[in-house]
Amino acid sequence: MTLRTVLLLGVAAVASLLGSGHAAASDSREPPDALFQAAFDLSLEALEPLPPDASNRWADDERAADLGHRLFFDTRLSANGRVSCASCHDPKRQFQDSVPLAQGVGTTSRRTMPIAASAYSPFLFWDGRKDSQWAQALGPLESAVEHGGTRARYAQVISKHYRADYERIFGTLPDLQNAPPEAGPAADQKARAAWQRLPSGTRDAITEIFVNVGKAIASYERRIQYGPSRYDRFVSAWKANGTLPRDVLTSDEVAGLKLFMGKGNCVRCHNGPLLTNNEFHNTGVPRRQELPDDRGRIAAIAAVMYDEFNCRSRWSDAGGRCPELNVLSAPGPEHERAFKVPSLRNVAERAPYMHAGQFSTLAEVLKHYNRAPTAPLGRTELKPLKLGAGELRQLEAFLRTLSGDLAGPEKYLRAPDEQGKSVEQGK
Ligand code: HEC
Ligand code: HEC
Repeated sequence: MTLRTVLLLGVAAVASLLGSGHAAASDSREPPDALFQAAFDLSLEALEPLPPDASNRWADDERAADLGHRLFFDTRLSANGRVSCASCHDPKRQFQDSVPLAQGVGTTSRRTMPIAASAYSPFLFWDGRKDSQWAQALGPLESAVEHGGTRARYAQVISKHYRADYERIFGTLPDLQNAPPEAGPAADQKARAAWQRLPSGTRDAITEIFVNVGKAIASYERRIQYGPSRYDRFVSAWKANGTLPRDVLTSDEVAGLKLFMGKGNCVRCHNGPLLTNNEFHNTGVPRRQELPDDRGRIAAIAAVMYDEFNCRSRWSDAGGRCPELNVLSAPGPEHERAFKVPSLRNVAERAPYMHAGQFSTLAEVLKHYNRAPTAPLGRTELKPLKLGAGELRQLEAFLRTLSGDLAGPEKYLRAPDEQGKSVEQGK
């Protein structure tokens, strides 16, 4: 993947910068090109255009995005009629909910992730158990603690409320008059039994609608991206003038940037314009006492490999072009309690932090990195940083420069106007 090449180049540039041996210490003796290159690699200007999603032939279809936008906010796609994707992914809160553990029909065991730029991510969720945005979207719909409904129910919602729009994009809806209102493979026992009794042709027809719901939602989500932050303006000014600009970031913020690349070694994992390598690492984040052990990535590799909706499945449009899935490594000890490296863009705007909201402030996060405690399971990859209080403040100041507005069509950054009304209103 070309994006990956860019990330690797970024790491190489940082390595050569650190090779100079005084990255965090002195301004004047650093080779300015290497320092600029390392800073540039973290800027949005270095972001490659979003690659197409071969597994979703509607990914870049405007009509699918419009439909997906409405589905994302539609509470009829839930067991109790009260939960939509936006219940947890609130556009006013960076498309997350600001609570440690997400609340849907029930309480989940992880924190809600932001949506922006997640289309760049080859594996979705904290453990990466899905390999596309459309396959990801189908998870919460059938999860007993999130939307809690069944795919038969969702097919009915589509045929009742979205028929015309759906058919314009995906073709004629099948006749599901005789399908039971609740049936699906992942819900309660009764719904599962009803699902098993359906002829396989009916099951496929329902699943196809379900898959297209996911593909429409993914088409919408792809358009939500990060806009430039103060940090990006700093890099642009640097590029334009050829000298380190003095008036965009404070000297503490610049010192924080150097710690981020140097002594803190944050760029080892948080690199590239989205400040993530899109990989999974064990950083010794403490467990939440009330939750069972969460093994993270190690438990998700087989899940994505055999997922009903993965890139190699018959529901995918990729025709076997699945580079990420095809080179997936077998589970090993390094995957024990490893979690996805989150983007740090807009991170100051979306506390609490980590996969189960273990930390409520950035200061707490940095304290964790500074101490590097023993991992509750597996081995942490961190070593204590031994940074002083002033350095921790500088690092935090730098993280705060990464905030900017979300980017994307303005209408997609809020609820659709006709929210709650059906497309065939008046009927
Ligand atoms: C009950 C709250 C809740 C609802 C409802 C919900 N989500 Fe999420 N979302 C979460 C949580 C929690 C995670 C992380 C879960 C995990 O890692 O196991 C997540 C993760 C994601 C991710 C992964 C982002 C990444 O970078 O990997 C995407 C995308 C997403 N949700 C989209 C959706 C869509 C689309 C819907 C509606 C079909 C939806 N969510 C409904 C709470 C919710
Ligand atoms: C070995 C890889 C690695 C290194 C090095 C690393 N991180 Fe992280 N970072 C992660 C992972 C993985 C997570 C998520 C862990 C979890 O949820 O359990 C994370 C989470 C975070 C979060 C919380 C973001 C959120 O949305 O919850 C912040 C902030 C953060 N890192 C900042 C830093 C800083 C600053 C440094 C350098 C001092 C750093 N990281 C070094 C891998 C790393």
